[in-house]
Formats: sequence, structure tokens, C-alpha cells
Amino acid sequence: QTETDKYVIDDDLILKIFQPRQEFAHKGTFGKSIIVGGSYGKIGAAVLATKSALKTGSGLTFVLAPGCGYEVLQTICPEAMFINGGEKYIGKIEEQEKAIYGIGPGLGTEKETEDALLEFLQNHHDPVILDADALNIISKDKNRLKLIPKKSIITPHPKEFERLFGKTDSSFERSELAKTKAKELDVFIVLKDHYTQVISPGGKVFYNVTGNSGLAKGGSGDILTGIITSLLAQRYSPLNAAVLGVWLHGRAADFAAEKYSKESMQPTDVITEIGNVFFDLN
Ligand code: APR
Ligand code: MG
Repeated sequence: QTETDKYVIDDDLILKIFQPRQEFAHKGTFGKSIIVGGSYGKIGAAVLATKSALKTGSGLTFVLAPGCGYEVLQTICPEAMFINGGEKYIGKIEEQEKAIYGIGPGLGTEKETEDALLEFLQNHHDPVILDADALNIISKDKNRLKLIPKKSIITPHPKEFERLFGKTDSSFERSELAKTKAKELDVFIVLKDHYTQVISPGGKVFYNVTGNSGLAKGGSGDILTGIITSLLAQRYSPLNAAVLGVWLHGRAADFAAEKYSKESMQPTDVITEIGNVFFDLN
């Protein structure tokens, strides 16, 4: 471990990563995102993630959710195509070609959903984004960790991290444990916090300094999942998708705080501000 393994995600780094949209492009150029989430009472999480994937520029966006979310999703996110995954809970995750899956927001941990996720992971070997209840399902049995496809991105908050990998006594120890696990599993870990860290399998740590306490509200994490899914679908590498994603998410939140205050800003306002972040980047 040397100092050179630690980086702050600054404007220079972001401008190196960010790819302006090619003018002669078509929707295929920008990939296919599939948000997998939602359950009875938590359809909003799927709405937030789907809307965020759309607002980040994904070429084609799908949402695989239970049928009870059909009308809400088609109404709030008409640009996204709906895939029926069950009735009140997801019980089947269908596999589509060349799609990037962002799985977890509002998913729930019902037995049928658990079975569907495990079956999907057994057959899917490309990188995915796993968040929230997808991580909670994996946490139930440590043998499930090896089902995570290599080079995937996982986005645990501190409690989800603890469920996955065990308790640590300090944020320093948590970060060290994350480095060990990122290497062991060959995944990128987005350790969400006030200063979110992106940890690569090679042991590099990228600290994000955008964002504010206005994000400390249910729904903020679902937005991050949608953003990162969209970027990975647009052919950013997993590392670049995670680094650019956490930065964008925080920056949009900073814009929302300026307009509405940290108290009043809603995750939905953060989604609206994603566009203004792209204005600045271009
Ligand atoms: N400063 C900066 N960023 C913050 C802050 C803060 N003080 N607080 C939260 N954030 C950011 C985090 O970095 C992360 O990107 O907001 C996001 C919060 O994500 P989650 O913790 O996943 O929250 P979310 O999923 O939206 O809502 C709570 O977590 O405990 C579970 O089941 C519970 O569904 C619930 C969910
Ligand atoms: Mg969350």
C-alpha cells in the first residue's frame, strides 16, 4: 500500500473519463440498461433507478419489476419498457442479450425473489450492478458471494457492507477489508458514505467529494444505481462507470441543495439536476 493507490475524484479525472456524446450515434451506441427492482410497497425505488438511468443517457432502458408496478412505471417513466417479473414480487429475471443489469432497488427479499436472483447469477457472467436487497440476499449465505460475476460493481451502504463482509471497528478497517474483498472477488466496491470510496480489485481507492447531507434520505441510493447502470451500458469500463457515477450523483445533489436546500431537496430533484451536471461537463 503506497500513497499512489489513493486518489481524490477531481475535475481533471472526471474530464479524462467523460466521453461526450458522438453526434452520428444511434441508440444502440448507448447500450441497453435493465433495472431490476421494485416489490409491493417499494415500486418507488424502481421508478427512481429507472428515471436515473434514462436521465444519464442510456440508449434503451428497461425495467423488470412485478406487475403491481406496471401502471406507475409506464406512467412516470414512459421512455422505459416494462418487463413483467411477477405479481407483487419478482419471481423471474429474464436474460436479454447485451444488456447491463442494475439489480436491487426495492427488490425485497421474498423467497421467490431470492430464487430468481440466484438463478440469474448462476447463468449470467457479464458484469452487473448489485445494490440494496440484491446484496442483502447474497449476504444470507457467504457461498453466494462467488456468484457475483467478475468485474461487477456492488454499491453497499455501511450496513449492507457489514452484512456482506462482517463487522469492522473503524472506517479505516472497513476500507481495508473492502480492498481485500474487491481483490478476492474481482469486483469493484462502491462503499457509500459521506465520502464514498470506489475500490478496485487492484487495490486502488478513489474518494468522492461531491454530495451532501441532503442525500441522507431514502431513495438517494436507488438513483446512484440507475446512474451507474446507465454508464456501464454506455460502454464506460466498470471502474470509470463507478467513479463518474458517484461524482455525477453527488454533483447533481449539490445543485439540488442550492436550489431547494439540503432539508427540502428530494431524490427526484437530484434526478432532475443530472442534466445540469452534463451541461457543465460538455
Ligand atoms: N453526505 C453525502 N452523501 C450522502 C450522505 C451525506 N451525509 N448521506 C447519504 N449520502 C449518499 C450516499 O453516499 C449514497 O450514495 O446517499 C446515498 C444513500 O444510499 P443508501 O444508503 O443506499 O440509501 P437508500 O437506498 O436510498 O435508502 C435507504 O437503505 O438501509 C436500506 O433498506 C433500507 O431501503 C432502505 C435504504
Ligand atoms: Mg440503498
